[in-house]
Amino acid sequence: MTTKNTVCAWPYPRWIAHRGAGKLAPENTLAAFRVGAGYGYRMFECDVKLSQDGVPFLLHDDSLLRTTNACEALGAQASAVGGEQPWSVLSQLDAGSWHSRPFAGEPLPSFEEIARFCLHNAYFLNIEIKPTTGLDCQTGAVVAQHAARLWQGALTPPLLSSFQSDALAAARAAQPELPRALLLDTLQSGWLETALTLGCVAVVCNQALWDKSSVTQAQNADLRCLSYSVNDELAAKRLIDLGTDAIITDRIDLFSPAR
Ligand code: G3P
Ligand code: MG
Repeated sequence: MTTKNTVCAWPYPRWIAHRGAGKLAPENTLAAFRVGAGYGYRMFECDVKLSQDGVPFLLHDDSLLRTTNACEALGAQASAVGGEQPWSVLSQLDAGSWHSRPFAGEPLPSFEEIARFCLHNAYFLNIEIKPTTGLDCQTGAVVAQHAARLWQGALTPPLLSSFQSDALAAARAAQPELPRALLLDTLQSGWLETALTLGCVAVVCNQALWDKSSVTQAQNADLRCLSYSVNDELAAKRLIDLGTDAIITDRIDLFSPAR
């Protein structure tokens, strides 16, 4: 049995910069947020997980290898799993050189640094809770607690999202007032009921999943419709014409949020 949500005003902009600045800067770094902001973006998506000692920080993969210099810096014997390293080690890594020379030395940011950057600039944030495999509940709860502390008294709270239902359930138990969104890369049966059971205000879908039927189902349940990652004009137009609410993009150089 599911209940209908209460319609709430949607405070977020249509355009959201994926991982800070798409591919124009090293993903999930403060430098990326600055680049995204330079292109006029006022809302950002980022991936947040926990260090081994419980500090929330930004990283997409479980592994540090693709986007940091962990292999050289820590040696082949050390664990490359980000969630198995303490923050004191993670905070020394270079998360920029893999992308390009101008970003060499860019550190992995803590979630708190990114939160403060957004708050100082009145930017909106979509926090994707991206747990290290096996740590869904702990990550959901801790990220929500930090988000509530950091945004205390702010006008607009961050939007928490996750592919992991357990992470969203834990976030809800820890900080029920923070808005949540269910991330989906397939429309598995029961998707709407899952979103409603978790008390979500939105569903963030792989863009291909939105059509008249799925948008109507979501809207009839008072859920907002967001899409990732939309990188061409035709796809964006289709989603806007369908009546969806927001678009997460890598192509911050193609889509101007001011238009
Ligand atoms: O939050 C939207 C999008 O970021 C989900 O996929 O793999 O890029 O984190 P991913
Ligand atoms: Mg993400």
